[in-house]
Amino acid sequence: MSGAPAAGALAGKRVLVSAGPTFEDIDPVRFVGNRSSGKMGFAVAEAAREAGAEVVLVAGPVHLDTPAGVARIDVRSAAQMHAAVLGALPADVYVGAAAVADFTPRRVSEHKIKKTAGSDTLVLELVRTPDVLADVAAHPRRPALVVGFAAETHEVEHYARGKLAAKRVDLIAANLVGGAEGGFERDDNTLAVYWHGGEQRLGPAPKREVAAQLVALIAGRLPA
Ligand code: PMT
Repeated sequence: MSGAPAAGALAGKRVLVSAGPTFEDIDPVRFVGNRSSGKMGFAVAEAAREAGAEVVLVAGPVHLDTPAGVARIDVRSAAQMHAAVLGALPADVYVGAAAVADFTPRRVSEHKIKKTAGSDTLVLELVRTPDVLADVAAHPRRPALVVGFAAETHEVEHYARGKLAAKRVDLIAANLVGGAEGGFERDDNTLAVYWHGGEQRLGPAPKREVAAQLVALIAGRLPA
């Protein structure tokens, strides 16, 4: 297992990180979204900054302080995160730690949707959101290293390697979520990082340590 990155390992590099959930509004008081505190992505941003990088952090709605020296762009929805991340290119590295909602309501109601007497159901039509990670990986200004995350409840390696290939990224950092270990909201995490022809396990450890290990791995795999 690698430890923290060498001092200045990312000096002169620009690192773009996404973190937190996105909220997809249904009406002015309700939304759908994924579970995420932002802790993992913020820890990656902090570790990249400590390794000497210029860091831009695109954050969904979270309650976390901005790491020192990091430039932060706040967004709410997947569409806003997509625009902010692509708008912040070029970068040498993109790390997609955000839990971007995969679906958003086709229509946002201008007014609060009322509970109607005699009906116990509400049918929402959801449509796919843009895939930030895949679009960064396919972008003409593609970063030299594109790192995705994969939040899986089972068959972690199978699904993570599927995303590595489908989204055409260089590394995918997979974590098990939804069980007692849960990757989201907690202070600790374990990552299995996969790439074509290799893998490395990071943690279990506090997210700050896991993030430092991930940044060391990134620095080591970044083309000179
Ligand atoms: O925030 P914490 O509470 O600390 O929890 C951390 C975490 C569990 C959220 C984090 O470690 C993590 O796994 N983040 C990715 C969550 C996720 O959405 O995984 P996914 O397997 O659904 O998506 C795969 C990848 O595609 C991710 O890099 C995701 O950012 C990206 N994606 C997904 C959908 C979409 N529309 N756009 C994307 O960019």
